[in-house]
Amino acid sequence: MNILVVGGGGREHVIAETIARSNQNPNMFAVMAKKNPGIAELCRDYLLISETDVEKVVDYAKSKNIDIAVIGPEAPLAVSLADALEDAGINTVSPKRAAAQIEFDKAWARNFMKKYDIGGCPVFGVFTKKDDMDAFIEKLGNVAVKPAGLTGGKGVKVMGDQLPDIESAKAYAGSLLEGDSVVIEENLVGEEFTLQAFVDGKSLAFAPTVQDHKRAFEGDLGPNTGGMGSYTNAGALLPFLVLDDVEQAKQIMKDTVRALYEETGVLYKGTLYGQFMLTKDGPKVIEFNARFGDPEAMNVLPLLETDYVDVISAIVNGTLADIDVKFSEKATVCKYAVPAGYPDDPTKDSEVITGDMGNALLFYSSVYEKEGKVYTTGSRAVAVVGIADSIAEAETIAQNALDNIEGDLYSRRDIGTAAVIQKRIDHMKEIRGY
Ligand code: GLY
Repeated sequence: MNILVVGGGGREHVIAETIARSNQNPNMFAVMAKKNPGIAELCRDYLLISETDVEKVVDYAKSKNIDIAVIGPEAPLAVSLADALEDAGINTVSPKRAAAQIEFDKAWARNFMKKYDIGGCPVFGVFTKKDDMDAFIEKLGNVAVKPAGLTGGKGVKVMGDQLPDIESAKAYAGSLLEGDSVVIEENLVGEEFTLQAFVDGKSLAFAPTVQDHKRAFEGDLGPNTGGMGSYTNAGALLPFLVLDDVEQAKQIMKDTVRALYEETGVLYKGTLYGQFMLTKDGPKVIEFNARFGDPEAMNVLPLLETDYVDVISAIVNGTLADIDVKFSEKATVCKYAVPAGYPDDPTKDSEVITGDMGNALLFYSSVYEKEGKVYTTGSRAVAVVGIADSIAEAETIAQNALDNIEGDLYSRRDIGTAAVIQKRIDHMKEIRGY
């Protein structure tokens, strides 16, 4: 079987590594903007072009007789790469544009949730006029401000964090109005968690819950990033969740997949990513993404016990309900090393030297290889993942590996530590009132 991976980041490296573990020994090919050495090593061949150059990606896929394509990032989905590959007769394990807009158009996503009465939808409004928007901000009093389009998770600002008061919320929302609509939502208070699922259009197979860390600096300080690191707990349930929280989140995602078909006529195939805020009233949807999370993919895919090629074949064939998708019951801690100054003023083109990784997994992200050396591009550079029976052990494995990576880099040492986990548990106890 010939499989194409589109994308060159940490998420795509773990996707490629999971395909490479298959007992079916597929031939792997990749399209990526810059040479990710981890992906390149696993592939029979690769092409270095923009992942949004639809024509070139399709031509390459045809020339390699690709049976199944897996698209990692969101940008190619927004320019209809999945539609173009399917039109060319290539099975694609990523949603077509009509279904993927649940990620790249936040205004559409909220209106869709409201129309189909999908659970977990916060109070929201979509605005193109400043006066109406200001009045809504005043009315809600405590808001999150979201640009409608794709921002890599960095355009959302919330009061109490990046926006100190109502006036700054109005000013920021107003600055986004040029050329796009703006979504204003009630500011959700609680603990965030991620739930990812394989989807064949009808059935969903859920991965363990993950918690990401968006803020750049220890103690959840600093600007928002794509995610500095993440963890799962042994047994699939994060320590601050109870089973019913996850059951509610699963139901929301199942209802979403069914409603997406009703609304668009397109079967959602690929991975659906639900980012939830666990509030005092249960899980609320912060956003949906039409792909695996980065870093969250690096937590769950190494735990996948079922052959991934069987999983993606079942997605293509619409037979996901017929296979048993299993994840091992281990804890994982993933930590990113990012360039100094990331995300606002990152250093670029500086060498990354990886030493002894011990038992940790290493995934290359926004780096490129030149003459046998690895260099940063300015975004998240390399990730390490510890896997063990407890979060504490997984954290030690990840941190030891991180300590053996040299370069003009920094990371968050606090991710997965007992103190931070306890803070999450205490926060949720306080919110629930017990
Ligand atoms: N970790 C957040 C995301 O992938 O969107």
